[in-house]
Amino acid sequence: MRKLLILLLGMMACLEAFAGSIKYGPWVTEAREDCVTICWLSEKPGMAYVELSDGTKLWETFAGRRIFKRLHSVKIDGLEPGTELCYRVCGTELVDDSNARNPRFGDTYEGTWQRVKTFDSEAATCRFSIFNDIHLEVDKYSALAAQVDSAATDFLFLNGDIASAGNYVEDTFVHYALEALGTLPAGLPVHFARGNHEGRGNNTQLVSDVFPNSDPAPFYYTFRQGPVAFIVLDAGETGHSRSILYSGTAVYEDYINEQIEWAREAVQELLFSTAPVKICLLHVPMIDHQNKEDYLLQRWLNVHFVPLLNEAGVDLMVGADLHEFIYCEPGTMNNAFPILCNDAARRVDCCCESGKVTLKVYNADGKEEFSTVLEIE
Ligand SMILES: [Fe+2]
Repeated sequence: MRKLLILLLGMMACLEAFAGSIKYGPWVTEAREDCVTICWLSEKPGMAYVELSDGTKLWETFAGRRIFKRLHSVKIDGLEPGTELCYRVCGTELVDDSNARNPRFGDTYEGTWQRVKTFDSEAATCRFSIFNDIHLEVDKYSALAAQVDSAATDFLFLNGDIASAGNYVEDTFVHYALEALGTLPAGLPVHFARGNHEGRGNNTQLVSDVFPNSDPAPFYYTFRQGPVAFIVLDAGETGHSRSILYSGTAVYEDYINEQIEWAREAVQELLFSTAPVKICLLHVPMIDHQNKEDYLLQRWLNVHFVPLLNEAGVDLMVGADLHEFIYCEPGTMNNAFPILCNDAARRVDCCCESGKVTLKVYNADGKEEFSTVLEIE
């Protein structure tokens, strides 16, 4: 009996060691019709791979070498639209690499099996939930996430300022940006738009390591799900009073001009131009802000970027940043489409089908605060 107890305790310790090797994750990002990127954070650095249900092992590599990291990402491409991928994340922990010719490895781990689907432009609907301006309030973030019906959602969209300005390190950024979402991001891709806070502080490149997106740039891109083409943009910081926080390192005007040049071409691509519904997502809403003394860049975007989006046939813009709810009707500020600025720590649920977009805004208590249906011609 005593031996059996010791054996059981030993087995439990082993299981704990296995579970403890993955600190958080996996989460799926950079989802397209033909690819996804699987990320996770392990307790210790080591070699890592994604295993598919057919036994294929896709190792994390750099230029032909398996690498030893804690923040892992494995891109899987060559997939078909609407493919359900069954996967788990695995690894071997590094114990000592002081002898480069003979690194010592320790425990291995295997995560639980997960399922995620690639996007599919033939799907009849596109359903997604937007979170923004959480600013470290993990309790509200968890409450908003817990309300998500994963079976009726295609992806999650983090629209910036999920964390607050700081010196970004892996554990803290993953904690604040993702952990409150629980296991949702293992099966629902998480896409990201950078907020002004995620552009402040040091080591801001880490944000794109946690939410990798290679084409064409970490924080601006297009993608398609069902009837909707998305254009995601990054407006950086918005005004003089805030720009002093960058100690002269911000060159956002050049960065936004780069995006305008890119967007001119991107909206002509068939993936975007043929979509029945077109949505622009970004943290800083391109509105003619009522404060004419500040928010210079925001008002500049309203004048210089919105006409391009009007011409491209954009049907809706969803922004954040201002920590208040604003709904700008079409035609009120150079805009041919409505602009919804979501309040801080609220979730916008969007259900899109050809010809119709339904928007509902919820607070952390689950109370519906706003709802509208857009008819799309
Ligand atoms: Fe914010």
